[in-house]
Amino acid sequence: MSKSTAIPRHIAIVMDGNGRWASKRFLPRLGGHKKGVDALRKCVSHAMFRGVRVLTLFAFSSENWNRPAEEVSGLMHLLAVVLAREVPSLHAEGVRLHFVGERKGLSGKVQAGFDEAEVLTANNRNLILNICFNYGGRWDIVQAASSLAAKGEPITESSLHAAMGMAHVSDPDLIIRTGGEYRISNFLLWQAAYAELYFTPALWPDFSSTELDQAMADYARRERRFGKTSEQLKSLSGSQVSV
Ligand code: IPE
Ligand code: IPE
Ligand code: MG
Repeated sequence: MSKSTAIPRHIAIVMDGNGRWASKRFLPRLGGHKKGVDALRKCVSHAMFRGVRVLTLFAFSSENWNRPAEEVSGLMHLLAVVLAREVPSLHAEGVRLHFVGERKGLSGKVQAGFDEAEVLTANNRNLILNICFNYGGRWDIVQAASSLAAKGEPITESSLHAAMGMAHVSDPDLIIRTGGEYRISNFLLWQAAYAELYFTPALWPDFSSTELDQAMADYARRERRFGKTSEQLKSLSGSQVSV
C-alpha cells in the first residue's frame, strides 16, 4: 500500500469517556470535560503533524440535552470559554474551523462565536477542523432532505450529500471511538458508509498522541474494498504500478 493511502485523509472521533475519567478521580463530571479539551487540543496538533487533512470531532449530540441541566449548562459555559481561548491559537496554526449541527437552541453568544471563528479561519489551509455540536446524524439527514423538498429538487445521493452539514469535506476514512463503547450514537450516519471503525477503551482525556498513532497504524493495515474483492484490488494496484 502506498504511503498516501496509509494516512487517513479524514479522521472523525467520538470523544467519549470524560464522565468516567472524572468519576474515577472523584471529580465532578465537568472536570472530565475540561480535561477532555486538553486532549482535543493535543489531538488537533498531532493529527496535523501526521498529515491528516480533515478532523471531525463529536462534541455534543442532539441527545446530550437529556443530561442533567447542571451538566448541560456547564458544557455550554465551557464551550464559550474554549471558543474564546482556543480559536486564536487554532487560527495561528492554520486551522480552518467549521461548526456542524443545529444552531437553533444554542445561545446567541455561542452562535456568534461559531460565525466569527468560521469567518476568521476561512482562508486557513493546514487542517479542516469540524466540531459537531448539537449534531445528530438523523437531524442532518432530515434537514438535508427537507431543504431539497422545499426547493422541489430531486433527492439523489449527490444532492443529499451537498445539502448536509458535512458537504464541504469528503467522507471520513477512519472513525475512532474512545471510552470502550461499541456504538455510533447518531454520529455521521450517512458519511460513515465506508469508514474504517476503530474502538479503544481509552477514556477521551487519556487519548494521547501515541493512541492516535496506534489508531492510524491499525488503519494502515486495513484493506478497504468498497464492495470489490481482494483479488480485484491487488490486480488494480499491480496495473497502477506498471503504468
Ligand atoms: C463524552 O464524554 C463527552 C460528551 C458527550 C459531551 P461523556 O460525558 O459521555 O463521558 P462518559 O461516557 O459518561 O464517561
Ligand atoms: C456520544 O457520546 C456523543 C459525544 C461524544 C458528543 P455519549 O456518551 O452521548 O453516547 P451514549 O449516550 O453513551 O451512546
Ligand atoms: Mg459517554
